[in-house]
Amino acid sequence: MGDLDAYDQLPDGVLVAGPDGRVTVLNAAGRKLLGAPAWAGRDYREVLPLTDADGGDWWACAAPYGGLRIRTGHPERLLELHGRPLLVTARYVRDRPNGPTVTLVVAFRDARARRRADRDRSDLVSTVAHEIRSPLTTVKGFTATLLAKWDRLADPQKRAMLAAVNADADRVTRLLSDLLDVSRIDAGRLRLRRQVVDVPALVGRVLAGRVASGERPDRFTLAAADRLPETWLDPDRVTQVVANLVENAVRHGAGTVSVAVGPARAPDGAAAVVLSVADEGAGVPARLRPRIFSRFWRDGRAGGSGLGLHIVKGIVEAHGGTVGVDTAPGGGALFRVLLPAGGPPYEQ
Ligand SMILES: Nc1ncnc2c1ncn2[C@@H]1O[C@H](COP(=O)(O)OP(=O)(O)OP(=O)(O)O)[C@@H](O)[C@H]1O
Ligand SMILES: [Mg+2]
Repeated sequence: MGDLDAYDQLPDGVLVAGPDGRVTVLNAAGRKLLGAPAWAGRDYREVLPLTDADGGDWWACAAPYGGLRIRTGHPERLLELHGRPLLVTARYVRDRPNGPTVTLVVAFRDARARRRADRDRSDLVSTVAHEIRSPLTTVKGFTATLLAKWDRLADPQKRAMLAAVNADADRVTRLLSDLLDVSRIDAGRLRLRRQVVDVPALVGRVLAGRVASGERPDRFTLAAADRLPETWLDPDRVTQVVANLVENAVRHGAGTVSVAVGPARAPDGAAAVVLSVADEGAGVPARLRPRIFSRFWRDGRAGGSGLGLHIVKGIVEAHGGTVGVDTAPGGGALFRVLLPAGGPPYEQ
């Protein structure tokens, strides 16, 4: 009974059969995965009728009680049980080398989560390939034209084509660095270099940068509280958050972009700083709000690669903060970032 109890603690399904192939153990996880079948004393093939990807009977092929007597089992395989994916390993226990199988032990687990992860990964690969191909198509088109017609093109035409090539090279570079951030975030490997950060000054630098690159100064307002709790943050990462939110407000929103920084309380009552970025555009419809932070989600009209808000959320959460979207008083989008105050925190 002690053994059975131990089997029942395992997260994976376990089936054990004796020398005659009759099942002696089916643990709790196994009974659950198989939908509580009658199992005691039944043939292992009846209790666990595994099929391979082509629908063939797996046990006929594996032949745990027959076949070569030097076999000791098989490594993890993706098999199916009534069309449902299972990851299965088996051991064929012999009481002497080259003897008959006296015990068959099969471990199995639901593979749906693994399949989903595989599908996500291949979606990611195709999205990335597509994102990189479109700027490269322009680059290729312009460079081919320049090479073929160099002598016939006027200087301003050549300059315009080179400018387009240059802009697309920038786009690919940015996309690749965003992708690296996404992979760090998704793997939980985002390293923060925390120091005391003056958030309003940081926001001021982001806005000054936009004005320096040609935006009208009256497009932006910044309101900061006089007294803010001390915040230990990674200044480069927080700059990235602010730059992304401001870029979105300009590109997807309209009118004046109002940034505000003030003291706040986290839900648990701890001191925090809240940073909000509001615009006067159409805002984000309520039904889309849960989606905009997922990777590659974007709107067809003015969308970039759709990584910006995913990165914003990843950076904010790595700091122990939260980000949300709401409707601004003027009807546009209002993004609110809550960053915990205090420190210095203990980070690896
Ligand atoms: N201020 C805003 N007003 C209205 N819609 C917004 C705003 N900010 C974001 N969105 C919507 O959310 C989507 C996702 O934003 P996100 O920043 O993740 O991607 P992106 O801006 O399209 O591309 P990227 O930031 O990677 O260049 C946008 O495509 C847009 O539809
Ligand atoms: Mg964006």
